[in-house]
Amino acid sequence: MHSPTQLSAWQALAEHQKEIDSVEMKSLFEKDKNRAEKYTTKAAGWTLDYAKNRVNEKTLALLIELVKEAGLETAIKGMFSGEHINNTEDRSVLHIALRASQAQESLMVDGVNVLAEVRDTLEQMGKFVQQLHSGEWRGYSDQRITDVVSIGIGGSYLGPKVVAEALTPYKKDDIKVHFVANIDGSDITGKLKQLNPETTVFVISSKTFGTLETLSNANAARDWFLANGGSQETVSKHFAAVSSNVEKAVAFGMAKENIFPMWDWVGGRYSLWSAIGLPVAIAVGMDNFYALLDGAHQMDEHFRTAPFEENIPVIMGALGVWYINFHNAQTHALIPYDHYLRAMPAHIQQLDMESNGKANLLNGDGVETDTGPIIWGGAGTNGQHAYHQLLHQGTRLVPVDFIAPLASHNPIKDHHAQLFANCLSQSQALMVGKTLEQAKQELRDAGATPEQVEAIAPHKVIKGNRPSNTLLTDKMTPETVGALIALYEHRTFVQGTIWGINSFDQWGVELGKVLGTDIFNRLVSDSDNSALDASTQALINAFKKAQA
Ligand code: F6P
Repeated sequence: MHSPTQLSAWQALAEHQKEIDSVEMKSLFEKDKNRAEKYTTKAAGWTLDYAKNRVNEKTLALLIELVKEAGLETAIKGMFSGEHINNTEDRSVLHIALRASQAQESLMVDGVNVLAEVRDTLEQMGKFVQQLHSGEWRGYSDQRITDVVSIGIGGSYLGPKVVAEALTPYKKDDIKVHFVANIDGSDITGKLKQLNPETTVFVISSKTFGTLETLSNANAARDWFLANGGSQETVSKHFAAVSSNVEKAVAFGMAKENIFPMWDWVGGRYSLWSAIGLPVAIAVGMDNFYALLDGAHQMDEHFRTAPFEENIPVIMGALGVWYINFHNAQTHALIPYDHYLRAMPAHIQQLDMESNGKANLLNGDGVETDTGPIIWGGAGTNGQHAYHQLLHQGTRLVPVDFIAPLASHNPIKDHHAQLFANCLSQSQALMVGKTLEQAKQELRDAGATPEQVEAIAPHKVIKGNRPSNTLLTDKMTPETVGALIALYEHRTFVQGTIWGINSFDQWGVELGKVLGTDIFNRLVSDSDNSALDASTQALINAFKKAQA
């Protein structure tokens, strides 16, 4: 077990950072005409241009050395062969098995061929999707299904919702897919208002079938169904589940054949490729769901086999560590210039922050370095008129990933060229900035007086030298969207491996869940709260008073 700070490449990078700190990226471009070409790599339908980073050949060599010293090669082998790399839960981590090639016959884990289970489930999903779209599946009044509501939260919500939205151009017209997650009654109330119980199917997605929000919303959906013409006997025509807890799903009223399995070896935030992705398959059809899996598989193969020097998740993971640990970056922004990918930062936020928001090494010792950054972002160009100001002139260094398709699904006049131009100009502006002299000249050219020039010019200075990656693809398709998300999954794993942490557990989430239940019980009873802190007591009292 390593602490990254003990690795010789880590120490060399700390020294090297002092050398490169004052070097401007733009001067590196001037010196090396081949820089863009050198720092571009391709895989699975994506091109990564990472030339606008504070790196030279030495930096990159040291970063590759770092991932090697941290044992990434062994870690990748461990993941792909089903070793229990999630050590605190003693589990394999096999989202890659969910999208394995059809040519691979088996992947034995603890004596079971998991690929056989995966394929059976895909077949079961295929039947369900076909029955819904063909109209063979009927509601209790013998009508076709027109709406499917997915109820889940966290990994059982974000991934499927983001992918379904990303694949909007591929959506089937006959069935509308909706998502409900929040325990806030406004979420499900808003959705139910639009629906007819006779033509609606609910898919309850919960690996554990024990998550409070999901169960409460599932109960609310069933109550609504029963109060609006449905009956206990017909619940099975309108409710399906994705869960590893079959008993609880059956107790809810699901027919066994409408329960899609999940496995211990798939983490919630890595589960959209399993039956948790059923809402995606319903929205875009099973063929497109297979294409999504195929794209992710292509990225898996690239990650597993490409030399680290050309390996997109490895390069992006190592660059992230470079900024977090050697440049004190606290956050990392994802900015897709694609309307349909606008919610993607939220999914990658959960993926990365729930995975690498950790303070212990694999052996339980405390870490000595920062680990996962705050992941945030949103669609361009909208963000340019909101938070990009801080990216350009704020005091914090925020590395950015720009993500863009070369072609639009909705070409209108020059909209796409405008969108793309904005994407490129943002990464360019972050790097080149504006000097004091340029700012002064600009003001003089605009007719400012010398006094105005002196007063205003400093405010217009943009330091520049701010790093970014640009990820390009021909078009957002099921394959390229699959590959993109798989890329971020592996990037997360690369960083977790460098830091020597377990990216696949989430113990921190548990405390909030336990305390949430305790406080809920206090809100609905006359419990003695005097042992609680005064602030929590006062807040509980405020709620009780309002209810009374
Ligand atoms: O928020 C924590 C978490 O455990 C996530 O990891 C998971 O995706 C989510 O809750 C939902 O869990 P489940 O699918 O069991 O309802």
